[in-house]
Amino acid sequence: MQSGTNPWSNNQAEDIDRLFVEFGIEPIGGVADRLPEVPSFIRRGIVVGHRDYRLIADAIRNRTPFHVLTGFMPSGHLHLGHLMVMKEVVWHVRQGGNGYVAIADREAHAVRGTSWEKCRTFGREYLKTLYALGFEGTAYFQSRNDRLKDLAFEVSTKVNFSDLAAIYGFGPDTSLSHAMSVITQVADILFPQLDAGPAPTVVPVGIDQDPHIRLTRDVAHKLRMFTVEDRGAYVSVRSKNAPADALAAVHRAFPGSREYEAHVDITAEPLGRVRDTVREIEIAYGGFGFYSPSSTYHIFMPGLEGGKMSSSVPGSSFGFYESDREIKKKVMAAITGGRATLDEQRRLGGEPDRCSIFLLNLFHVLEDEIELADLRRRCLEGELTCGQCKKETLERVMTFVREMRERMDAVEHLVEMEYGTDAQ
Ligand code: TRP
Repeated sequence: MQSGTNPWSNNQAEDIDRLFVEFGIEPIGGVADRLPEVPSFIRRGIVVGHRDYRLIADAIRNRTPFHVLTGFMPSGHLHLGHLMVMKEVVWHVRQGGNGYVAIADREAHAVRGTSWEKCRTFGREYLKTLYALGFEGTAYFQSRNDRLKDLAFEVSTKVNFSDLAAIYGFGPDTSLSHAMSVITQVADILFPQLDAGPAPTVVPVGIDQDPHIRLTRDVAHKLRMFTVEDRGAYVSVRSKNAPADALAAVHRAFPGSREYEAHVDITAEPLGRVRDTVREIEIAYGGFGFYSPSSTYHIFMPGLEGGKMSSSVPGSSFGFYESDREIKKKVMAAITGGRATLDEQRRLGGEPDRCSIFLLNLFHVLEDEIELADLRRRCLEGELTCGQCKKETLERVMTFVREMRERMDAVEHLVEMEYGTDAQ
């Protein structure tokens, strides 16, 4: 990743480096080359890390099945940060992925105390935006998905209180609904494989969601009947909690294999074929056969006033529902990477990497790479003043906002289908 074009604020860079090292997240650069087409969110340094993304890159390249899922908590208006994740989902759907989006109304209700009515209103706003961006696939509200709730119950058989204490710092005062919303999120991440069959699944998230990813990978593993281990000279299929006849079926599927009390050793078979066959047997005997989910991690776009972008800080972002005047005011008031005086600016140039207006261009409103590079250069060389840049950016913002509003109106009927008309 080119550090020059990296929009990390200093803190974020340090946090991310630390998390990468501490939790074993890999830099995305190592697998991006396997993609037939590198998307702009990777090229521009927005998505920086991953777990097991190689499975997804290979599925895209080989046109084999994969899923993409993410979730949004409908506790407030949508902001530009959500928009970024939605674009990642839509891109993966266009690359052949089966798309899923969860509206985490159980989480919003449990953790933020959002009323069901508000959950519904915000959830619909999220879905409208998602469809306006071109999403095709399945979207659901957690509270209305019965198969999801059954899966969450199954997941809960593999998670205990000390896991929740260790991962989230939950204690005796934590409400059960908070624990249930965690379990529901794990079920969200596994849901595509229940719905459409086991396949690699990518979950685009911000780094703050990594604890959920780690928990889900752990649960997916625990829910498997078998583990398949490469021992060099042979492949060992070990039963964790498989019924005896399922282990016998593995033995039968590979003539020449040897069956022991709790494992079968297989020689002269490629690892991939053993994995696939074992998964099929597991499903035939009532198991899930889940793949551990993959994930990507993006950095956060800072708020327009500096600090965090959040639905609860109105000045930090703008929404499509706001008036043109309101949006203009926010863009013109945004914090830039400009110098104290015009003279200094001309001499030293601006600092695009710490400028919320440049980042707005980088994340959302300036798609053309050459124009973006030119904007950056004009800023760095002191050729462009912040006032002029804001004016140019505002034009792009308004075009973008108008287009999105039109498209949102045009997809209204799709949202209706997802939620129906009955009251919660
Ligand atoms: N917890 C996420 C948030 O706070 C929302 C969420 C719910 C989610 N289910 C998910 C994210 C599944 C990724 C995958 O924003």
